[in-house]
Amino acid sequence: MGKKAWGGRFKKSISKIAEEFSESVSFDKRLYDEDIRGSIAHVKMLSKQKIIPSKDAEKIVSGLNSIKKEIESGKFPFRQELEDIHLNIERRLIEKIGRVGGKIHTARSRNDQVLVDIRLYLKTETSEIIKLINKLSSQFVTLAEKNIDLALPLYTHMQRGQPVLLAHHMLAYYEMFQRDSERFKDCLKRINVNPLGSGAGAGTSFPIDRDYTAKALGFNSVSKNSIDTVSDRDFIAEFIFCCSSMMMHFSRLSEELVLWSSKEFDFADLGDEFTTGSSIMPQKRNPDMAELTRGKVARVYGSLNSIMTLLKGLPLSYNRDLQEDKEPLFDAVDTVKACLELNTEMLKKIRFNKSAMESALSGGFITATDIADYLTRKGLPFRDAHEVSGKIVGYAEDKGIELEDLEFKEIKKFSKLIEVDIFEYISVQGSIESRKSYGGTATDNVGKMITQAKRTLKNNK
Ligand code: ARG
Repeated sequence: MGKKAWGGRFKKSISKIAEEFSESVSFDKRLYDEDIRGSIAHVKMLSKQKIIPSKDAEKIVSGLNSIKKEIESGKFPFRQELEDIHLNIERRLIEKIGRVGGKIHTARSRNDQVLVDIRLYLKTETSEIIKLINKLSSQFVTLAEKNIDLALPLYTHMQRGQPVLLAHHMLAYYEMFQRDSERFKDCLKRINVNPLGSGAGAGTSFPIDRDYTAKALGFNSVSKNSIDTVSDRDFIAEFIFCCSSMMMHFSRLSEELVLWSSKEFDFADLGDEFTTGSSIMPQKRNPDMAELTRGKVARVYGSLNSIMTLLKGLPLSYNRDLQEDKEPLFDAVDTVKACLELNTEMLKKIRFNKSAMESALSGGFITATDIADYLTRKGLPFRDAHEVSGKIVGYAEDKGIELEDLEFKEIKKFSKLIEVDIFEYISVQGSIESRKSYGGTATDNVGKMITQAKRTLKNNK
């Protein structure tokens, strides 16, 4: 029973330590469904092409279906000595239907079989991730819409810069995650290719029909070079890059959530459901979920590094090194899905603190740029306008008051171009509403962007 599928020419059996070292069934068993789907399509094609008799194909298909049930009910005997999921299923098939089960591997090699499994798996997971991104994105849009009357400072160099709508800030995240979604969609094109029929790497002498299996498995196209096909793991590297880029976005979101929920900022409250207490300091409410999300970015970058290093310098075509592609891939998939789900739920509970944002907007001469813009519109070169505005700020600072609390005659002293309408521009609201340029923070603009985003999200469904 312990006989290897490849045992024909071997006199001694593999050592226990080598068997343990090289097994992959402990982790590739998660590909069982894809493996069975791939085998069923392959066997139907073999029968259609009269490479095997149709009654043999029928037996194999029903055997595979009953194996699927065994696996799903937890009764399947996974055996480490059978190395991987492919050989475990094949051996079980032979046990169940007899030697005819061995026909399943006609015109196929594990080198193309493993690629069918991973590509099918990634097709499903990528579509799932795109759906989850859509859910997260719509949460940003909901937050934008619900908080359209809230403003906060735009920070540059972590210094208060200019007033912006919180909604505009939320939509910045929407844009970032939409780009991620687009990247995954594009990656899907390279995932969605039929590798089956490349055999060990040279093709096969049997009259197979690769278009048939492509269609049966829902692949959009058929790979063109059998050597490249069994060597290629680019689509995995690309997929993990897409994950990494999205995780980088998550790390920036997490960082802001950590800052915003601190007493120092106090812009946001993550709610009891998504924070933890300290076992020693009773006053604390820790943003652990945001911190863990930020921390998990490291794992995904690690996976990217693993796959890139795995592929570097590897000669064509299949080398056993490639078995090491799976664990980083699975870990990246699990991590990004968990982060998407968790953060979507967490953002449903977040509450923003209007008064903390308002006090951050006051006391920092945050509309100084607006004075400069005002003077520039009146004809002063921007550099000179910047200088004048700086002097006004210095004056207000010495007096210990806000720009909008200055008397008209005080401001007027700095430039004869200044009229009373300046006050319309140096209020927070005036500053925000003046930024009507496409992509700017004026309420009208942001409102239009919300409408547009909702439409995009609906079409993405
Ligand atoms: N477990 C192997 C992997 O994941 C399957 C392919 C093995 N092919 C081979 N010729 N040993 O890469």
